[in-house]
Amino acid sequence: MIELRDVTKVFPGGTQAVDGITLVVHEGEFCVLLGPSGCGKTTTLKMINRLVPLTSGTITVGGRDIQKLRATELRRRIGYAIQEIGLFPHMTVAQNIATVPRLLGWRKAKRRARVRELLGLLGLTPVDEFLRRYPAELSGGQRQRVGVARALGADPAILLMDEPFGAIDPITRERLQDEFLRIQREIRKTVVFVTHDIHEAIKLGDKIALMKEGRLIQHATPSQLLAQPADDFVRGFVGTDRTLKALRLTSVREIMDSGPLSVRDDDSLAAARRAMDRLERSFLPVVGEDGLFLGWVGRNSVLGPPSVCVGDRITPYAVLGSPDMPLNEALALMLESATGNLPVTDEDRRLVGLVSFDRLFESLRQIYVEREAGEGSP
Ligand SMILES: Nc1ncnc2c1ncn2[C@@H]1O[C@H](COP(=O)(O)OP(=O)(O)OP(=O)(O)O)[C@@H](O)[C@H]1O
Ligand SMILES: [Mg+2]
Repeated sequence: MIELRDVTKVFPGGTQAVDGITLVVHEGEFCVLLGPSGCGKTTTLKMINRLVPLTSGTITVGGRDIQKLRATELRRRIGYAIQEIGLFPHMTVAQNIATVPRLLGWRKAKRRARVRELLGLLGLTPVDEFLRRYPAELSGGQRQRVGVARALGADPAILLMDEPFGAIDPITRERLQDEFLRIQREIRKTVVFVTHDIHEAIKLGDKIALMKEGRLIQHATPSQLLAQPADDFVRGFVGTDRTLKALRLTSVREIMDSGPLSVRDDDSLAAARRAMDRLERSFLPVVGEDGLFLGWVGRNSVLGPPSVCVGDRITPYAVLGSPDMPLNEALALMLESATGNLPVTDEDRRLVGLVSFDRLFESLRQIYVEREAGEGSP
């Protein structure tokens, strides 16, 4: 979808910002340009939509040389979102989002429908309220969402994003990243995304292109980058806690014990006791008639008269995991709540799995072993 061949950029003052980069981004792929400040990420991005002219080399988009496309045609196919700046302060949210559609001559009704759709998609609701506000009347995180909505305005196949979640607090940032991942799963744009944050790169990228001083040092999947750093620069950049970072790449679903055995809240204590004996467990999850997860029942609490049922002896749960949760979050939850077992529930809080600390620890060990193997091979 996007192909850079031997691309260089020397600015008029003589700064060589980009030095012979060759990079292919496939359709629907999320490519992260990562690297320290001043390494040429923004310049690379801007050359793709011709905001910066290239000095030498070629860039093709959808198989066509960008030099041979008209700038308007190029920008119709490419959305562009940048950090902070970008929103027009004198225009409402709706007018901002409709910028490109208006330039492309979309009809008013179509523009309006698109604005509403995008506000909904990015969770800026109630839509009627947000579309008439001005950028100064939004929080930082909301402004960034509008920036992303504007980039998506004309439904471009390609999205260029330059630290779009840069200037916001870490919690909102995580949320925006999650939302963006969810949206990306639906809309499957080809994305080139600039960041200098390794965590953000690992979380979002299908591929990471790590740059240094205008050159491309390694282009690989996040797990390859973590497991097999090409050189000391990459090793230093990804950090010494690579194993922990790699936990981000595995979801709870991949390691959980699915369909775990449980008891019902209307079961008798004797039945729960028998189940524990049979399974050699000192506790079991309790679910309601509808499969909803209610909590735990332990061996110490299943002694009692036959009239008492499990529902009367439930120990409430402290934390819940979800199948899509990355393992680093699952680990953090378990450590914070001192739980040896993480119940995994679906959106309706139905029990779908369990992750034990031992299982999680085993995954951690596997990652470590793979990494060592990777480093040992040529
Ligand atoms: N218009 C310009 N004229 C001259 N030099 C420039 C220009 N724009 C960027 N540069 C230089 O090119 C180099 C690469 O800049 P670029 O903005 O691409 O870096 P970056 O990787 O995006 O950095 P950051 O993470 O700080 O945003 C830097 O040395 C910068 O000073
Ligand atoms: Mg930059």
